[in-house]
Amino acid sequence: MSIDIIVGAQWGDEGKGKCIDVLSADADMVIRYQGGANAGHTVYVGKRKFVMHLIPGGILREGVTCIIGAGVVLDPIAFEAELKMLTDAGINPRGRLYVSPRTHIIFPYHKKLDNCSETFKKSKSIGTTGRGIGPAYADKYNRVGIRAIDLLDPVLLENRIRENLQFKNHLFETYYHIEPENVEETLNAATRYAEILKPYIKKTIPLISKYKKAGRRILLEGAQGAMLDIDFGSYPFVTSSHPIAGGAFIGTGIGVHNTQIYGVAKAYLTRVGNGPFPTELNDETGEMLRQRGGEFGATTGRPRRCGWLDLVALKYAVEVNGITAIALTKVDVLSGIKKIKLCTAYRLNGQISTNVPASNSEFEKVEPIYEFFDGWEDALDACSHYDHLPENLKKYIVFIEKYLSIPVRYISTGQRRDQILQKT
Ligand code: GDP
Ligand code: IMO
Ligand code: MG
Repeated sequence: MSIDIIVGAQWGDEGKGKCIDVLSADADMVIRYQGGANAGHTVYVGKRKFVMHLIPGGILREGVTCIIGAGVVLDPIAFEAELKMLTDAGINPRGRLYVSPRTHIIFPYHKKLDNCSETFKKSKSIGTTGRGIGPAYADKYNRVGIRAIDLLDPVLLENRIRENLQFKNHLFETYYHIEPENVEETLNAATRYAEILKPYIKKTIPLISKYKKAGRRILLEGAQGAMLDIDFGSYPFVTSSHPIAGGAFIGTGIGVHNTQIYGVAKAYLTRVGNGPFPTELNDETGEMLRQRGGEFGATTGRPRRCGWLDLVALKYAVEVNGITAIALTKVDVLSGIKKIKLCTAYRLNGQISTNVPASNSEFEKVEPIYEFFDGWEDALDACSHYDHLPENLKKYIVFIEKYLSIPVRYISTGQRRDQILQKT
């Protein structure tokens, strides 16, 4: 049996979708373990572009069984749209895509609460994706959530919706001063959600167990990234789940195993939404990275904030995940830049540190300390082997490996499936 975990090692959008797709080529099962339709994982199959929000990337590989784990918060409308995108492309997920009965369901009132909360925070808003993620996880931990299996129990479902709306409508009307949610409409929506999800809800634990016993290859797919983790990210500017590798064991119910943990990291850095970003470039270099890297959100279309690679934050991500190897993406975007900077330490209140501060106000204040690297002119299209890469790029990669004390195993040089090199 082999279990690999693929995690985002930065603030999300590192290119996990592409790496999951590449690693799925010889996988038997892919399980998504947290997050919801806040994620946008882009995969190119030939010229065709797929943006996956909920369904594991493995679905694009024939014969791979895919599971949406208990740790995910599932929006049935986004799920239905994604099923349509797949079937339109000739991919039939039926019979190899399953949803854990324990997966929590996102309702319209979660999205409404998400947006109310953001509006009321004004300048202190998190910059969420507005997909209802925080409120859905809050309900889960408050033990008032509705799970996939609950959709199939009409009496429980109706009671739970009525109870939830009693409280939430009070909030909408008396605190946020907006229209309440209509109870009948919500009940009708729930009935539709049950229809959409019923064919996919399956006892996933025995299925995973069967694959483990048969020695099959299983990938656990993370969304977001370590710096957005609810406990270890740049709190409060984080998502409401555990993207880090520990979350993979909890969000799938696979048990704790000795695994290979691939941390996907961009060769530079991006972030969507608000919060600290020490190496951010608010200048023409940042704009150049945004344009060349196509740095616009795959879910919301928002321009991503861009900056230099932050090795302090990346080393921290290696620690909190237990990352065993890095997949370095988008190195091609740096081609042609004369001087490339790498942040190797922070300066805070006159002191030099290589730690990520727990305090948000300190994290906002840190100044990056950089090492400078000579760039490379060459396009990377012709490189089919690590040895073919420009010398200066190899120096950049080796420096990263030394700093992190783990290998860079994969180097992605473009969006396509074949644009990836393995460093042995
Ligand atoms: P994810 O959320 O981590 O899956 O990443 P996204 O899909 O949101 O964003 C990554 C973007 O970079 C997508 O548009 C990918 O097609 C693209 N991408 C991935 N790897 C590479 C690469 O090596 N080079 C270039 N130029 N683009 C890449
Ligand atoms: P993938 O899987 C980048 C960010 C949002 C916001 C914060 C909280 O594509 O890497 P949420 O809607 O989760 O409550 O928003 O987290 N965020 C992401 N940023 N990539 C993502 O997913 C993200 N999912 C959430 O922008 O700052
Ligand atoms: Mg993304």
